[in-house]
Amino acid sequence: MRSLFKRLWRWIDDRTGLSATIGPLARHKVPPGSRWAYVFGSATLFCFLLQVFTGVGLALLYQPTSSEAYQSLQYITYQAPLGALLRGLHYMGACGMIVMIGVHMIRVYLTAAYKFPREMNWVTGVLLFILTVVMAFTGQLLRWDSNGIWSTLVGAEQLARFPFIGPALAYFIFGGETINGQTLMRFFNYHVFITPALIFGIVGFHLYLVIRNGISEPAKAGRPVDKKTYRQWYQDLLDKKGVPFWPDAAWRDVVFSVLVILTLVALAIFVGAPELVGPADPTQVDVKPHPDWFLLWPDALYALMPYALESYVMFLMPTVLFGLLFAVPFLSLGGERAPIRRPWAIAGVVLTLAAIVSLTYMGLEAPWAPEFETKQVAAFASSAPEVALGYRVFYEKGCQYCHQMEGQGGSRGPDLSEVATRLTTEQMTIRIVNGGYNMPAFGGSLSRQELTALLDFLNTRRASANRESASTAL
Ligand code: HEC
Repeated sequence: MRSLFKRLWRWIDDRTGLSATIGPLARHKVPPGSRWAYVFGSATLFCFLLQVFTGVGLALLYQPTSSEAYQSLQYITYQAPLGALLRGLHYMGACGMIVMIGVHMIRVYLTAAYKFPREMNWVTGVLLFILTVVMAFTGQLLRWDSNGIWSTLVGAEQLARFPFIGPALAYFIFGGETINGQTLMRFFNYHVFITPALIFGIVGFHLYLVIRNGISEPAKAGRPVDKKTYRQWYQDLLDKKGVPFWPDAAWRDVVFSVLVILTLVALAIFVGAPELVGPADPTQVDVKPHPDWFLLWPDALYALMPYALESYVMFLMPTVLFGLLFAVPFLSLGGERAPIRRPWAIAGVVLTLAAIVSLTYMGLEAPWAPEFETKQVAAFASSAPEVALGYRVFYEKGCQYCHQMEGQGGSRGPDLSEVATRLTTEQMTIRIVNGGYNMPAFGGSLSRQELTALLDFLNTRRASANRESASTAL
């Protein structure tokens, strides 16, 4: 029996050249002293593989059409054997991948491992980071619940604000002007075919570069990178003190990745994927729109910003952020690598992390999210019939979740207490029927009478009328 396996293996090995290829790769020399700081890249890769396996499992049951998507996810979550675990693992895997890629990038940045000759490693790494964000963003919509839709709307909006090409690009990517069945179909394709294919390709190249340029040696203060001599110096270091990658360095990768995966499994079992919050309906506003936590901070940033700045920041911020990320290795080619000699790098990381953490916290607190506990403005009930009737529609349709009215209500949208001073009936009608940035379209959920009543009411909301209603309230 054993000799049979041996012969089989020998046959496979001879025909494929497996051990002749893998052997030298596994035993290639790496600098000594590669410590635990080096494990985050491989952990990211393991998380990605976990995503591939659990993703295939989910795709077997998921139906990417607007009528079936939500039900098929409910089936996966509540009925299919091990379905909840599968969904939980896929969600936690995404979180794990984002955390690991983040830590990996911070480690590479702090130890300046991106310097000569590894600039290309960094650039492909940033590409992989962007693709990871794309996966998180597109995956969120596939839930096809209110949260997913709302969060995607914010993204669509952001894209549409890029000058010149923005609107056309958004139309192309989202498959229309609104989030619809076509958007879901496209996002499914981005999430399942296009982005993973790109990730596989670029990961391959990234790993090839890691082998071609070698793992960076631990940074040491007072040992700057010199382009002219570095490669020769690195080769000498490997020849003199190098250790084989397997097993001397790689065992840490294996141990850490196994720990990460076990943690994710535990989180999937005990915490699980986010609950599905109602089937998608862009006019349904009685859920708290909540993007996944890792996408929360840009949302909070936009919401907290003065309204006039928003459109500039929405396209400037990602452009500048990603531009800077790509530029990192070209801004400081040679010089010191040790973090201790680069205090600005440490300060930058600390500030960035502090900003992200506090914005995420504010996003969770969400003073800008719709306010569902808003109370009726009592004075309106006893006012003239057109006011009382129209206000009832206003209140019952949830306009006040986002709009202030006489000091009551949320502040996601503008205060409407004096709206008729600003807008004509026609302008208001367009906004209400078609929606707008961050405002759902109500065209489909208001009857003609309701709309008329609503407009009659809003037309009484003028600067002078307010003073009157304020006095009747007394
Ligand atoms: C989920 C939050 C939300 C809900 C619910 C909502 N709106 Fe809005 N609304 C907004 C936002 C945000 C804006 C500003 C964005 C824009 O101009 O496109 C806005 C803008 C408006 C404007 C234009 C105001 C101006 O000064 O330009 C009107 C009028 C309006 N909404 C009426 C309504 C009415 C009536 C309802 C209920 C049927 C309603 N909104 C429900 C978020 C909301």
